[in-house]
Amino acid sequence: MIILKHLLPRSSIRYLLRTNSTKPQKKFNPFNIEYDPIKQTVTYPPELVINNQNYSTDSWTNVTPHILSRIGQNLHKQKHHPLCHLSSRLRQYFYQQYDPRKLSPKFSIIDNLSPIVTVEQNFDSICIPKDHVSRTKSMNYYINANTLLRAHTSAHQVDLIRSGLDAFLCIGDVYRRDSIDPTHYPIFHQCEGVQLFNKEQLFVDNKNVRGETKDLQIFAANEHRDATKQEGHTLEAVKLVEASLKQTITDLFKTLFPDASTLNSRWVDATFPFTHPSWEYEVEIDGKWYELLGCGIMEHHVLENSGLGRDHIGWAFGLGLERIAMIMYGIPDIRLFWSNDSGFLSQFAFDDSTRSVRYKPISIYPQCINDLSMWLGKAKIDPLDFYDLVRTIGGDLVEQVMLTDEFYHKKKDRHSQTYRIIYRSPDRTLTKNEINMIHKDIERYCIAQFGAEIR
Ligand code: DAH
Repeated sequence: MIILKHLLPRSSIRYLLRTNSTKPQKKFNPFNIEYDPIKQTVTYPPELVINNQNYSTDSWTNVTPHILSRIGQNLHKQKHHPLCHLSSRLRQYFYQQYDPRKLSPKFSIIDNLSPIVTVEQNFDSICIPKDHVSRTKSMNYYINANTLLRAHTSAHQVDLIRSGLDAFLCIGDVYRRDSIDPTHYPIFHQCEGVQLFNKEQLFVDNKNVRGETKDLQIFAANEHRDATKQEGHTLEAVKLVEASLKQTITDLFKTLFPDASTLNSRWVDATFPFTHPSWEYEVEIDGKWYELLGCGIMEHHVLENSGLGRDHIGWAFGLGLERIAMIMYGIPDIRLFWSNDSGFLSQFAFDDSTRSVRYKPISIYPQCINDLSMWLGKAKIDPLDFYDLVRTIGGDLVEQVMLTDEFYHKKKDRHSQTYRIIYRSPDRTLTKNEINMIHKDIERYCIAQFGAEIR
């Protein structure tokens, strides 16, 4: 090798050196964040490149490669994902509300905003005090002192109102440093809802018996802040907005949980920096109360930050998608939402998002995937017949069956189909041998029954 070295072009030498090297291969590290597990230190490069955008790092940077790798997964937009089903149900419910003047749905739905936001958007714009605990490094994933992964979808309220919207939903992934266990995960999904009203929209029936407009107002001088309202707001305006908010939410949950007669719910007084008065909405399930959302009358300062004057009042709410989906489908562990296991995902593989399903726990034992490709005659096998056949032969050991490929060969005048069969036992690891026996039985049946030729 040494003799050859000077005869080789430089690039090949580098190649030889690299392939002969006994050094362990470096792990793929797309963000160049170095983690030393012994010293427990993390070293960041001077710049992080996220979604083709450069961000300088500083003493606030604490985002991890694992968290960064989740950006863009958008579970709420992945077809057939349970969070996507829930997101479409929210969409459907709000789309039904029609604005006859605009001849369009009242609510706009925004679900594609980047989760990378500024400190201004996440905190300042919605009046979160400078010294509020929710701003700390220990609670958030900062990219640098000025930029973080949004901790809530409320971060977009001001921008969306500024862009001209007066009723909207904003759905997206949010990031908070947290332990990982069956009910906590540092990434979850939220839906923010906002509706604004001006005088005409709020006091719709604002006419007296003679048809004259009554003089009800949203704002009045000398109105003080107390437990029921903000300074400047009239009680009648606040009460109407509160009624609209609570009606919208209770109605929404009646739609999401049609057997709501068994679903007890209650409003609990709460405090948020961006609403006053504020409430949490809770539902009772199996004797336990679960908080599903926070909401309230928007702080007027938030509307001012959005460029509105003293002519609007509004409500806002923020709900967590995972928690509702867990109740709706009986999903016991929040980590399952990130599962790529087809045993989990296939349970939600349907188009009608209003379908009511109960999640069946997936086995902890490994899957075994076998494909079956066959030539058929002029007639194809109806996949439904095949699914039945496989389940009859394989019983509970068959977790999933799907048609993965199908074509017609013109010259041969024959159809071809390929099915994928996923075997898995609920209580043990299956041996190759026993799966092969079942698989062979299925093949034999197809040959006898459908004249199939196994490929
Ligand atoms: N942003 C709050 C959170 O993440 C939830 C929330 C509460 C949103 C009240 C709102 C609201 O819009 O009015 O915990």
